[in-house]
Amino acid sequence: MLIAGNWKMNTDLPAAVALAEAVVKEVGDPGDVQVAVCPPFVSLAAVHEVVDGSPVRLGAQNMHFEEQGAYTGEVSAAMLTSVGCTYVILGHSERRQYFGETDALVNQKVKQARRHGLVPIICIGETLDQREAGEAEAVVRTQVAGALEGIDVEDPSTLVLAYEPVWAIGTGRTATPEQAQAMHAFIRGLLRERYGEATAAAIHVLYGGSMKPGNAAELLAQADVDGGLIGGASLKAADFAAIVRAA
Ligand code: PGA
Repeated sequence: MLIAGNWKMNTDLPAAVALAEAVVKEVGDPGDVQVAVCPPFVSLAAVHEVVDGSPVRLGAQNMHFEEQGAYTGEVSAAMLTSVGCTYVILGHSERRQYFGETDALVNQKVKQARRHGLVPIICIGETLDQREAGEAEAVVRTQVAGALEGIDVEDPSTLVLAYEPVWAIGTGRTATPEQAQAMHAFIRGLLRERYGEATAAAIHVLYGGSMKPGNAAELLAQADVDGGLIGGASLKAADFAAIVRAA
């Protein structure tokens, strides 16, 4: 299991440090559960100081696909590893929706992250219109194929997928455990076609979208749900830690 907190564009530097301190304290010893927090870029180095030596790992929320150069305002993979990142969230629906990120762009980012030893958390998921039109699986199939184009996976711990139905993100409207399991099983099947049974079974497929202490246990109990990508509830250390305990 992996539980990752996506802080999005919340917390200034002092607030990020305080939240990281509280998360380390509240999470304590998570046992077999892997835990990560993904603060804004400007707080990564300071949060690393806080979580270093604890079981809590660090992730970023985005990254550029080029090595370096004249890309004003962008952040490279090497910059992320230099401040202690293990993970990077890529292709979040907010990046796709507000910043025009395409599957092809996400694919370039995934490749670059893996070149630098960062574990990408690749977000996929359909909108409400797409679900209501019966297109959810087709959309997810296209996103998975696009993001993973040309990517071989030998070690299943080097790649994470996060199924985040767009209609459940920040809306308080969660997929039912049955809806989540059905799509996660479908995604597992797509991974099996690409990487074979053993590797597909070992790749973490997270659920994201209004996961909170009250619904985490039943979502995480589903056979193909291997953890959670937590937005809103990750901004409260006690709630985030309660989800880690549910895992
Ligand atoms: P949410 O966000 O938990 O606030 O719905 C999840 C995400 O967007 O990663």
